[in-house]
Amino acid sequence: METNTPEVKKTIFSGIQPSGSLTIGNYIGALRNFTLLQDDYNCIYCVVDMHAITVRQDPAQLRRRCLEVAATYIACGLDPKKNIIYCQSHVSGHAELAWILNCFTYMGELSRMTQYKDKCARHADNINAGLFDYPVLMAADILLYQADLVPIGADQKQHLELTRNIAQRFNSIYGDVFTVPEGYFGKVGSRIMSLQEPTRKMSKSDPDECYIAILDPEDAIRRKIKRAVTDSDGEIRYDPENKPGVSNLLSIIAAMSGQEIDSVVSDLQGQGYGALKNRCTEVVLDTLLPIQAEHARLMADKGYLQSILDENAQRANHLAQKTLRKIQKKVGFAARG
Ligand code: TYM
Repeated sequence: METNTPEVKKTIFSGIQPSGSLTIGNYIGALRNFTLLQDDYNCIYCVVDMHAITVRQDPAQLRRRCLEVAATYIACGLDPKKNIIYCQSHVSGHAELAWILNCFTYMGELSRMTQYKDKCARHADNINAGLFDYPVLMAADILLYQADLVPIGADQKQHLELTRNIAQRFNSIYGDVFTVPEGYFGKVGSRIMSLQEPTRKMSKSDPDECYIAILDPEDAIRRKIKRAVTDSDGEIRYDPENKPGVSNLLSIIAAMSGQEIDSVVSDLQGQGYGALKNRCTEVVLDTLLPIQAEHARLMADKGYLQSILDENAQRANHLAQKTLRKIQKKVGFAARG
């Protein structure tokens, strides 16, 4: 007999730090996939302001950037009624679960994290305990909502692996309490490279010419792509190892246009790098200009943005408390009357 029970949707969680201008790396590696997945999953997208303070932030700027990232989520096409879009610091469960998970994470595991080592090198004057503990807070973010799937760029793979290890370790002691999450990586673009040093990841903390910010003005976008480093053999071919600059531009075009890399290459067959850069500029502008217009409209209505964040933090808090109570009971915290 057929039943009409609707299939229970799986849960997605992901987050972005409000610690600088978001780049097309963030868009292609994360945001774009968030929007593609929103119909098929229950999605929770967080502005991770607690992660951001592991490096020094200007308080007024951080507050503004939290709103900006929330506005970017919505401007990229995430529906705030369908998805839970909120700020991490508004749901205290993140910090509470992180503490518990700290007690199930080893110092050795955290010392092996490459992002920690990179950040220590870049912020040698401020190697704080939060920087070290950052991946445990990230594990708490994900496990708090029993997320099945985590859309992220390749640079977060190691942190997700640690999250899975912590969840499995906890489950092996207390029974199956945590869902062990899987990563979701786009077919292309899970590692967009710097325009000036295409063997390194595009990052918002590098000099301006290395990245395209989602909110960059049109003339800056044109200029940065024109000056992007390529190579001297003149052939348009996808070969990340030997032709990192050209391959990066091809990945950007493919990811933003939804075209396969092979078909981008064959469209440009026989043409030079000028044509490749023109095509890249066209695709980036076609994608970013509408997002920028919507972003400006949202930022002009801070009351609306604030109401979205408030409402969604309540929804997130409700879900978070459910997991937290269960975990607190498992580890033996005193019962509540
Ligand atoms: P963050 O804020 O550095 O970056 C946000 C997302 O963008 C992806 N990304 C890239 N993808 C492709 N190419 C690039 N050049 C590129 N640069 C960044 C990142 O992989 C990420 O998916 N720790 C996380 C934030 C976080 C989180 C979480 C993510 C905190 N808690 C829980 C997922 C689940 C971070 O610093 O991302």
